[in-house]
Amino acid sequence: MTNFPHYMIREIFEQPQGLRATIAPRLDVNQGRVRLDDVRIGAAELRSLRRIHIVASGTSRHAGMAGQFMIEELAGVQVDVDYASEFEYRSPLVRPGELTILITQSGETGDTTGALREAKRKGSHTIAISNVEGSTIAREADGVIYTHAGPEISIASTKAFTAQIAALFLFALYLAQVREAIPEDRARYYIHELQRLPGKTEAVLKRAAECEALAQAYCKFDNFMFVGRAIHYPIAMDGALKLKEVSYIHAEGYPTGETKHGPIALIDEHLPVVVIATCDRSDAGSRLRYEKNLENIAGYKKQQGRVIAIATEGDSQIAARADHVVFIPDAPELLSPILEMVPLQLFAYYVAVKRGLDVDRPRNLVKSVTE
Ligand code: AGP
Repeated sequence: MTNFPHYMIREIFEQPQGLRATIAPRLDVNQGRVRLDDVRIGAAELRSLRRIHIVASGTSRHAGMAGQFMIEELAGVQVDVDYASEFEYRSPLVRPGELTILITQSGETGDTTGALREAKRKGSHTIAISNVEGSTIAREADGVIYTHAGPEISIASTKAFTAQIAALFLFALYLAQVREAIPEDRARYYIHELQRLPGKTEAVLKRAAECEALAQAYCKFDNFMFVGRAIHYPIAMDGALKLKEVSYIHAEGYPTGETKHGPIALIDEHLPVVVIATCDRSDAGSRLRYEKNLENIAGYKKQQGRVIAIATEGDSQIAARADHVVFIPDAPELLSPILEMVPLQLFAYYVAVKRGLDVDRPRNLVKSVTE
């Protein structure tokens, strides 16, 4: 990857190869199975597992929020997601034999290291999902699932984030297979869809010019809201965090269905709303959420809100309701968050550039918060 003006845009465009490198070595396509050799927790323990804690900071925690939906839906194990900075000081209710997953790009975040040690002290099994081989958290956890996104230099995490989500999906499918919680044909369907993901990510990257045009139109606004339902809410959260940290614009992520309980008071022509309104037509829950999203968009428009929607290619309704639409390829409900994140990363990047800011080194931030 050469002649990119910033690390952030290069790393956004490196996502297909990061996903390929994270996914491909773990797929046994002939057997239709996921192979995770470094998890180092026996099948018996995984079968008797009753609760999983996911603990992380910032963007990595947003990946964990998406992972919660994947693990609960595929493997049927209850998952709680926690801020690392809260977990270690709250004397968390962790019982021996439970599993704690620590997600960390750097593997050196102080809060997450503290959370790991607290979980181990309470007798929990631990797995690290990290992008840095041999990092502190990767070394101290019982097992590890490395993301292979390559070195991430820009302070805003992009390629590591989507690789983390892919790693969490791999774990969810692995756990489901160990627990015999998923039919073979469904597992093979997901393995096939995982293989298609890097190519679909490349297709979304071809829409970078659309995202740049949106950034040009909206770079002067001072406030944004990003909304999503279910597994798409964590993506709204990270879209907001990306914009906040690189452009210094105040942006809030919110569950779409919750906006009527207060936040819509903010929405008018001065506060644009980014709505994640994709739809996996093969998924009844996704179809229902999509119809609700159309109602929410109609409500925002009634308040003169400006709506930017992320929608699924082939959607013939959304364009008439939103002010702008960025389309992404059709994908299973549990995998579409990876594709949805790309336009939000591009939007945040281009807004920051148009505001003349130091995109790779935002003020007050460091790449790994080790203290
Ligand atoms: C990501 O865009 C942020 N810079 C930040 O929230 C980061 O995700 C967080 O500090 C956690 O870092 P880690 O993944 O290295 O533990």
